[in-house]
Amino acid sequence: MKVGYIQTSPRFGDKKFNFEKIENLITNIKADLIVLPELFGTGYTFTSKEEAKQFAEDYNGITAEFLIRVAEMTGSVIIGGFIEKDGENIYNAAMIVSSNGMIGSYRKIHLYFKEKLWFSPGDKPLKIYEVNGINIGIMICFDWIFPETVRTLALLGADIIAHPANLVLPYCQNAMVTRCLENRVFAITSNRIGEEKRGEDHFKFTGKSQITSYNGEILSSAPNSEIFVDFVDIDILKARDKKLNDFNDIVGDRRPNFYYNNIK
Ligand code: ACM
Repeated sequence: MKVGYIQTSPRFGDKKFNFEKIENLITNIKADLIVLPELFGTGYTFTSKEEAKQFAEDYNGITAEFLIRVAEMTGSVIIGGFIEKDGENIYNAAMIVSSNGMIGSYRKIHLYFKEKLWFSPGDKPLKIYEVNGINIGIMICFDWIFPETVRTLALLGADIIAHPANLVLPYCQNAMVTRCLENRVFAITSNRIGEEKRGEDHFKFTGKSQITSYNGEILSSAPNSEIFVDFVDIDILKARDKKLNDFNDIVGDRRPNFYYNNIK
């Protein structure tokens, strides 16, 4: 199974430009799964909720149209970030599409920094999308710092975590080694590069997109400041065997009665 990411450098507010850049990067690529960064069409650093709202879309918008075209060109399932509009609310979301069309969307449940001013927190439960025999879980960027996110997706049956990101802290790539190892799942962290200086904020995005294996091995690591595309072949079935050795099964050996799951 061929899976990968496209590490981009979006121009703020210019969806058409950002789509065209991606289209140029995927010519001749055929794959099973491609992950694009968080908010890959719009950029990240909004100055108000009203500004973010101007870029919001539903499943009939130009981002869905673009991603379905990319899915048709590459034969892949695609996951990429966008601003999802639902009534008066907007969400930092990621849509999943195939060449057959829209499959669904995930709305980020753990908002970072001023995202709390711009977006409503995700209001849909974590879930798995079974597409072409792959069980795909989706989380967005800062969701990584809450181990419960990948744990929940793994217990729901994820083989692989699609992880669109706009990382600004330097910790995630190392943490994903542990997240994958402790859950025996694959993950694709698709990050962006570049800087955005808007309003009072100045973000430098850290690149280093990463494909992490179920055993903690790093299968692909992008540079920190270049546009980059990479794919690896993986055996997805490895993620369905939770045995570490003849005696330990990382799901079966859990002791939920001792975990005080209801502490708030
Ligand atoms: C982030 O969650 N985009 C830092």
